[in-house]
Amino acid sequence: MIRSKIAGIGHYVPEKAVSNNDLAGVMDTSDEWIQERTGIKERRYGKKHKETTSTMGARAAEIAIQRAGIEKEDVDFIIFATLSPDYYFPGCGVLMQRELGITKTEIGALDIRNQCSGFVYGLSIADQFIKSGMYKNILLVGAEMHSMGLEYSTKGRNVTVIFGDGAGAAIIQPTEEADKGVLTTKLHSDGTYAEKLAFINPGSHGGYHFDKMGEEIDFGYPDQEFGGIFITQQMIDNDMHYPNMEGQFVFKLAVQKFPEVIMEALNETGLQPSDINMLVPHQANLRISQFVQKRMGLRDDQVWNNIQKYGNTTAASIPIALCEAWEAGKVKDGDLVCLAAFGSGFTWGSALIRW
Ligand code: ACO
Repeated sequence: MIRSKIAGIGHYVPEKAVSNNDLAGVMDTSDEWIQERTGIKERRYGKKHKETTSTMGARAAEIAIQRAGIEKEDVDFIIFATLSPDYYFPGCGVLMQRELGITKTEIGALDIRNQCSGFVYGLSIADQFIKSGMYKNILLVGAEMHSMGLEYSTKGRNVTVIFGDGAGAAIIQPTEEADKGVLTTKLHSDGTYAEKLAFINPGSHGGYHFDKMGEEIDFGYPDQEFGGIFITQQMIDNDMHYPNMEGQFVFKLAVQKFPEVIMEALNETGLQPSDINMLVPHQANLRISQFVQKRMGLRDDQVWNNIQKYGNTTAASIPIALCEAWEAGKVKDGDLVCLAAFGSGFTWGSALIRW
């Protein structure tokens, strides 16, 4: 039986560390508030105009490729997950392909959104391609350059303080080793509350969803017969071009859905929470991870958290955390690793991997 395995993993975080006190210099917040509510002490910001989501993805990819013992030219498919792409289009997959210098092989590149659960969704897609025999070396990347699109003012503080930049990558290969590799992936979504955690402008919505919800919001669209515009002067003047989140609403759903989707994967494979050697949850908030750990009855050494150093790096958070856990020798041959994510959409998912 062919399964897919993670043959190499890498991560990259930019050099510049931004402390909570640094942010307190530009908005009404404090180190104490941020640490108490989120666990975050600092986050990394990419080098403006020098680093991008796709270049950081490429740096993480180079490490994963080298650790998988393959050459860049051996990669036969790219999956790139991000919510902070370099361009509206084309996506980061092709930009990273160019950055890696592997355009000659003309391999396919797929961009996926799915925000915080992007890496888990990407792993599930890669898993299907590997099991079907279509590809042998899939490069899966999750990367974010949030720092270019956050609101550095008191109005945006609830969102801005939690996000950071970084990238993680994995090479997914087939394996015929008994009981090894990806055992299962579980994917879910519910678009009912899409706007509770969203970055809506620029976009092509033209106010439609808000009209339907009975919310009268003036986006400043020009009154013209044909065409429209993705972003208006009014959006810029009124700071409507930043991410928006109802934190408590997201928090309550997250602590419900994380355990649910982890248990779904465990039940399907006949395993128990106590069988998990390492749970790598999406790093959304340390309090969410601690809540999930408690609910699942897991010990501290069964859960990997690094949000303290990097904040929430969205699609990059799981591969960065998994890579750090592996580098620290906490993910070993034969270990049961569980990945789980919940985020904007809402979308959520889990994966069980026998390492
Ligand atoms: N500094 C100081 N005060 C703040 C800050 C800040 N950075 N942010 C908010 N506050 C204030 C609020 O204005 C509010 O003040 P008020 O009581 O006077 O109105 C008070 O603190 C409480 O605000 P809440 O939003 O209720 O604070 P909460 O304890 O919920 O913490 C947080 C906010 C950290 C965002 C939390 O709700 C959370 O982590 N939610 C989940 C986030 C998440 O999981 N997102 C999903 C992943 S991201 C993705 O998918 C893209």
